Order: sequence, then structure tokens, then C-alpha cells
Amino acid sequence: MSVLVTGGAGYIGSHVVRLLQERGDQVVVVDDLSTGERDRIGEASLAVIDLARDDSVEKLAAAMGEHGVQSVIHIAAKKQVGESVKRPAWYYHQNVGGTANLLQAMEQAGVSKMMFSSSAATYGMPDVPEGTLLDEDVTPSPINPYGESKLACEWMIRAAGTAYGLRSVNLRYFNVAGAGWPDLGDPGVFNLIPIALQALTSGRQPSVFGNDYPTPDGTCIRDYVHVLDLADAHLAALDYLDRDDQPYDVFNVGTGHGASVTKVLDQIAGSTSLEVTPTVAERRPGDPATLVADVSRIESTLGWKATNDLAAIVDSAWRAWQH
Ligand code: UFG
Repeated sequence: MSVLVTGGAGYIGSHVVRLLQERGDQVVVVDDLSTGERDRIGEASLAVIDLARDDSVEKLAAAMGEHGVQSVIHIAAKKQVGESVKRPAWYYHQNVGGTANLLQAMEQAGVSKMMFSSSAATYGMPDVPEGTLLDEDVTPSPINPYGESKLACEWMIRAAGTAYGLRSVNLRYFNVAGAGWPDLGDPGVFNLIPIALQALTSGRQPSVFGNDYPTPDGTCIRDYVHVLDLADAHLAALDYLDRDDQPYDVFNVGTGHGASVTKVLDQIAGSTSLEVTPTVAERRPGDPATLVADVSRIESTLGWKATNDLAAIVDSAWRAWQH
């Protein structure tokens, strides 16, 4: 199969690309290399294209035609919540505008299958009783431009299904971490595990943003999913697009199990043998106490289930950090 992967040179994209290559698919990577790196994609073809530019439609359609692309995995996006609050128009332009261009190119090239990287950020601060697992029927209510842009993309993709038969799977990622191979670690230091590893290896202690949440140890609970499991979910989604006529689906990608900030930091101490004595800081605005996925839909429909636990995630992140 010939698959075009946008954002394929990035942290998550490069894992997807490597798994596709391992199973023998032909891969075309589209990446603007703003955060992605050329040496992460092996032998895959690379088209350096900024999706949000006006001339991207023609270039993308040409790349799809040239490589006989049958499916698109759309991962490329800006993904920093704080940055999205400061630059909302840019986030909408990059994420929503980029997706609009990609859809136009797919229509032009006659490519009708798409997997889209969405996010649990679409849920915002869900109005459910504390401890409830979030299923896909919870009404999305994003609280920042990043989450809004992902939800707008989901709507646009769904509308394309109604309009001209695009078939899509939208994966709502929970907290992605770890590394499938030591050379494919997360190069950005924007999330808890890399932030804590950077602090500890620079002789500083990590901060815990609030320890007075309504959770057992008072710190926020998230659903950490190994990036290799997540990448595997993309392949399962692609296979599902080939065998099912469902026009539009959305699935959570998580483990169904939560870990508190304290538990993650304890695991980091265990995996690294570094001394971890975190300092407690103020709550970070916009953090829900608990965000854990209900994963029954993806398990029953795609037959996908995460296989790596928190220890495997942190061990692999640490190996990649030292790479
Ligand atoms: N945290 C700390 N100290 C730090 C960094 C983070 O205590 O130095 C805490 C946060 O307050 C939060 C938890 O660790 O409670 C996880 O924070 P991250 O910033 O790693 O991740 P978020 O849960 O805020 O968001 C991530 C992605 C989003 C995605 C979301 C889905 O960054 O894009 O997961 O669950 F939408």
C-alpha cells in the first residue's frame, strides 16, 4: 500500500513511518521540517511542504499522483497549548487551514481514505463526575485554541464524508510519551516526562503543578500511552479504513488507566536512579484533575489495545534521552 504521512518526520509521525516501513508499505512523508528531522524517516520519500501555504494544494495533489497514494495519515500540526493561547489565529491557520488544503488536494487526487490525529484536548474540562472514564460521546468542549483547532478539523473531515464520501478515522490521543526506538525520542520538552528528565539531568528538581486536586494523592491524573502503541493504533485505523464502509469514526487512544504526577515522578526516579524530590508549585490554569480514556470503542472496533505500561514508557523515554 502507498501511504502519505504528513508530519512523518516528527516525534509521533516517525514512529508511524517506521512501523509502516517494517510491514512493507510504501511511505511518502510530507513535512515542513519546522520541528521534524529528515534523518527520522529512513528510506521514505520526503516532500518538504508547509500545508498551510496556498500553493500546497497543487504540490500535495502532485505528490499523491506521483506516488499512487491510496491513504493519508494526517499528523502534521502545531501542538503546544500555551503557544496556541498566545497565537490563536496562527494556530487556526496552521492546523485548520493546513487540513483544509490537504482535503482539497486529496479530493483533486481522488484519495478517499484519511486518518486524522486528533486530541483529548478536544474534551476540555469535561463536565463528568470525578474519576469517570471519558468516552467518545462526551460532548467536546475545548478550552484553548489548540483543542478548538483539532475539533474544527474533525468537523471539516466529517463534512467531507457527507459531501463527497471521504472515509476517515479520527484518533483522539491522550498523553503520548516514551520512544519506540532510542533514536526516535521526543525532541520537544513540552510535557511532564521530558520536562522532568531535562530538569533532573541539569541538576534541578521538577515542579508539581498543584497537589490539592480531588485525586488520591492530590496531583493531576492523566492517561499516558506509549508512542509505539499509539503508532500501532494508526496502522489498525488504516486497515479498518480498508475493510469498513463507515464514513466517519472517532476513537480515543489511551490505556484506560490513569497515573498521577507523583506516580510518574516516582517512576522516573525508579527508571533513572536519580534522586527525585519535586517542589510543589501553583496549579497550572486549565488543568483538569483527571483525564483518562475509555478505550472500549477502539478495542472492540479496531481490535487495538495498548501493551506498554508506565514503567515501559518511562524506561524508553530515559533510554532515548540518553541517546
Ligand atoms: N505537570 C507538572 N509539572 C510539569 C509539567 C506538567 O506537574 O513540569 C503536570 C500538568 O499540570 C498535568 C500533567 O503534568 O497535570 C501532564 O501535563 P502535560 O503538560 O505533560 O500534558 P497535558 O495533560 O497538559 O496535555 C497533553 C498534551 C495535549 C493533549 C493532552 C491530552 O500536551 O496536547 O495531553 O490528554 F491534549
